[in-house]
Amino acid sequence: MSPKIEWIPAYTVGREDLDRQHKVLFQLVDDIPTSLEHGDVNAIVMKLFKYTREHFTNEERILAAINYPKLAEHKVHHINLISQLTDYGGQGFSDEKALNDFREFAFNWITDHILQEDHQYVRYVKENDLDW
Ligand SMILES: [Fe+2]
Ligand SMILES: [Fe+2]
Repeated sequence: MSPKIEWIPAYTVGREDLDRQHKVLFQLVDDIPTSLEHGDVNAIVMKLFKYTREHFTNEERILAAINYPKLAEHKVHHINLISQLTDYGGQGFSDEKALNDFREFAFNWITDHILQEDHQYVRYVKENDLDW
């Protein structure tokens, strides 16, 4: 059994809607089963793809509204993540190891992206004392 994947307060971006969406992403990654025998793996992975896209669109709209100067760069990160996720998850899973590797990959990208990229717009909001 893999350890539970969950959102922790250190991941907060300080905006209720975005934090809620990030929590859903963690939940969806946690829902990726560790065994091929449990649940419809493809349906769960599709749900993760769909929600990730929705979240990115949402986040980009908010960043545009606050004139985030690194929005173009941030969008490129989102595009790259979607394509990695699609390439990786779209291959299907031949065994439990492939499934667990995907789960780990998804966990790593979500935490790395939030801590390294999303937290840069948090800094921008704080430095400019924005009411967002
Ligand atoms: Fe982002
Ligand atoms: Fe995000």
